[in-house]
Amino acid sequence: MRIFEQLESQVRSYVRTFPTVFHSALGSVMCDEQGKEYIDFFAGAGTLNYGHNNPRVNEKLIDHLQNNGIVHGLDKATTAKKNFLQKFFSVILEPRHMDYKIQFPGPTGTNAVETSLKLARMVKGRSNIIAFTNAFHGLTMGSMAVTGNAFYRDEAFINRSNVTFMPFDGYFGDSVDTSEYLRKFLNDNSSGVDCPAAIILETVQAEGGVNVASPEWLRNIEAICRDFDILLIVDDIQVGNGRTGRFFSFEDSGINPDIVTLSKSIGGGLPLAMVLLKPELDQWKPGEHTGTFRGNNLAFVASTELLDYWENDNLTEAVYYKEKIIRESLQKLADAFPEMGATVRGRGMVYGLHIPEKGFAQEISACAFERGLIIELAGARDDVVKFLPPLVIEEELLKKGLDIIEQSIADVLEKKKLMLRGETS
Ligand SMILES: Cc1ncc(COP(=O)(O)O)c(C=O)c1O
Repeated sequence: MRIFEQLESQVRSYVRTFPTVFHSALGSVMCDEQGKEYIDFFAGAGTLNYGHNNPRVNEKLIDHLQNNGIVHGLDKATTAKKNFLQKFFSVILEPRHMDYKIQFPGPTGTNAVETSLKLARMVKGRSNIIAFTNAFHGLTMGSMAVTGNAFYRDEAFINRSNVTFMPFDGYFGDSVDTSEYLRKFLNDNSSGVDCPAAIILETVQAEGGVNVASPEWLRNIEAICRDFDILLIVDDIQVGNGRTGRFFSFEDSGINPDIVTLSKSIGGGLPLAMVLLKPELDQWKPGEHTGTFRGNNLAFVASTELLDYWENDNLTEAVYYKEKIIRESLQKLADAFPEMGATVRGRGMVYGLHIPEKGFAQEISACAFERGLIIELAGARDDVVKFLPPLVIEEELLKKGLDIIEQSIADVLEKKKLMLRGETS
């Protein structure tokens, strides 16, 4: 590990949480240089919904390279992009009666968010954006400005103006409807909240602690957007691509966003980002928003292949089936270890075990890693153990990973008991 400490910036993070040198990976298992295997409940922060090195994808990528397929093409027309667009239209957009133009920004999630904010501001001619408490949208200037967590929002980093934060669904508990709260601010021309160009939201705030918006709340926010001529941006970068069951996380709520951002799993592990925009919003001048890596041809090849998963409902049904296993196991753990004070929340295959005691969740993650499970934390205080396995994980591996969590909780509690005894004796 010395070379990483010697040369890589202090900013490195996951290498600290998972301190080993990973060498290979397949499906839902990663392997380090010592040959130790780890079940992956992190899935590249939601980038590997279809698993590591999906064999169908790798075959197509090798084939593309061996035939001198285009790797880099700016935003030129290429065969790989043509195939992707055709398939995305026929498999995703058309069956859902969705009318969107597609923009390929730079290949990361934050590029898609920046693009969507810039577009909304341009079209509406207003600069304010409404974002929500605990939101996470990326860490470049514009995206960081709509991200809630103070850790990222140091005053020296960003221009904090032109964004108004409002409470997300459930922020004040179940008794307060925060969509009504928002409506009141917008209705009052002396509230100090400027009418925004757009409202940006995640239907499940994954990084923010696995906070799930109810379908009703989402519909209320959409109604506010329509009533006040505000664009609705759904950031589906982490919880799209089937993470909550259907391809888009907002499908069950029936809302119809003006702009949708996608990245992470859309490229099957290769960098790719997309902005879906209603045709009437497509007011860019040619070349007005460019970038060298718009549309990654290798990712197009991978993604085109992976869209096969969406030609029927099998993956959606598998997600619902595995959701039940995850939810029931976590609830069982919360009940079996009441001293944790844990609560369970989530949707589809993004779940959180919220443990209020400071540092407890982190200890579970560290213990789990020792036992061969990769799992990350979420929430402003890192107090949520976040379950984000690949959607294609085998049932047996899923259960094995959940067993490791149970053992890790028992380990942590035992350690605490021993410490307490040590202190009191
Ligand atoms: C909802 C959401 N939006 C945007 C981003 C930023 O994506 P990237 O890290 O690729 O810039 C993330 C990353 O975790 C995310 O979860």
